[in-house]
Amino acid sequence: MTTNIQNQWSSQAGFILAAIGSAVGLGNIWKFPYLTGEYGGGAFVIIYLICVVLMGLPIMMAEVLLGKRGAGSPVASMRNLAKEAGQSRLWALLGWLGVIAGFLVLSYYSVIAGWTLDYVWNSASGTFATNNTPSAIKSIFQNLIADPTYLLILHSIFMLATMIILARGVQGGLERAVKFMIPALFVVLIMLLAYAISTPKFMDGVHFMFDINFNKFFYPDGENFSGKGILVAMGQAFFSLSLGMGAIMVYGAYLPKDTSIAKTIAIVAFADTLVAILAGLIIFPIVFSNGLEPDAGVGLVFETLPIAFGQMPFGNIFGSLFFLLLTLAALSSAISLIEPAIAWLVETGKCARVSATIVIGIATWLLGFVTIFSFNEWSEFKLFSMTMFELIDYVTSNIMLPLGGIFMAIFVAWLMKSEDVTSELKVSAQNCGYQIWNFLLRYIIPLAVTLVLLNAIGIF
Ligand code: PHE
Repeated sequence: MTTNIQNQWSSQAGFILAAIGSAVGLGNIWKFPYLTGEYGGGAFVIIYLICVVLMGLPIMMAEVLLGKRGAGSPVASMRNLAKEAGQSRLWALLGWLGVIAGFLVLSYYSVIAGWTLDYVWNSASGTFATNNTPSAIKSIFQNLIADPTYLLILHSIFMLATMIILARGVQGGLERAVKFMIPALFVVLIMLLAYAISTPKFMDGVHFMFDINFNKFFYPDGENFSGKGILVAMGQAFFSLSLGMGAIMVYGAYLPKDTSIAKTIAIVAFADTLVAILAGLIIFPIVFSNGLEPDAGVGLVFETLPIAFGQMPFGNIFGSLFFLLLTLAALSSAISLIEPAIAWLVETGKCARVSATIVIGIATWLLGFVTIFSFNEWSEFKLFSMTMFELIDYVTSNIMLPLGGIFMAIFVAWLMKSEDVTSELKVSAQNCGYQIWNFLLRYIIPLAVTLVLLNAIGIF
């Protein structure tokens, strides 16, 4: 087997931290609230939570297992495992799907992370305190995305930071960074929650997030039924938990051999979901208390949180700390997005880790131009009525990651030898939890994901 043993987490805790680092990122704090806002609140949240429990958790377990047993980049892992199970070599394509999806996601993720970087500075310099009206803050954001040169600078800084950490390798760069970052992010989120509770419309925010109203969800325009919300909620569950593209698979490959998979992934999924829910509970009360609309789209977080920072005592400090932590959380996710590609390139034996990082980093950086221009020069250019940024996001989160997830589920539950699976998980085949998991992977997940995807492409 091709293995990649030079990379290994120092311990199970090292893996948990790195996997939380991968999962917690812009997906939780930027994307989850704005999607919840666009899809009407509580109905989206509940469908999202169902997707996390019924699909996210089982697939995460399958993905870690594939990585741990496959012991290589997603491409090599799938090739090794297909051989072991006597299946076609074409299963390596599943690894490829992930490598490509990660590269596409990072190309825009880095641009958005650039926005957060700009907001570190804006908060520290008091810009939000001196321009503390919702409309002034909105125009700060609009001016930012209208300026391609500045966006390019920010994107370049973020990509460079990502590449530096990646070049240093798994333990030295990654593990050390997440150890202090994630707890610090939690602390700042709790402080912001305290602020949100003190706003006059806190309860409106809570109702928006937890009152379930399927009308707006299924009939967004008030007339025609649309199942798109389910697709988006499912895509978001995959995105937020970093599933379906080999990030978690490659992290699993770096696991020490005696780790208990089930316990670790439960912690990761719980932490990820908690951060998303907290982000919503912070943002929506601020939205309603300032007379804003929840469906502002990608700018939601950037147009609402600064209002809070502008008003609260020591807001400059908290604001810059918050955006700094968010940038760092994005960094620990960004790394996992192209680790599959780098691991693959290193494995081919053609390059060392540093040159692999440079090649793939530069390619991602270049592709980032497409997203940058989507917000300004090319904002009128649309395919399927989406800008190029929207299209990349839509295709990766809502199609590529779920497809990756189905195939992982099928491979583990139908094609791998069940003795291999149970021995990896250290359970007996009679174990009740194992049987439920296997049932979900075998039937429910492939069926549910297929139905949602078919609906999305308009088959029914
Ligand atoms: N989970 C990350 C986030 O929520 C994004 C990500 C997606 C990272 C897929 C790795 C793989 O921000």
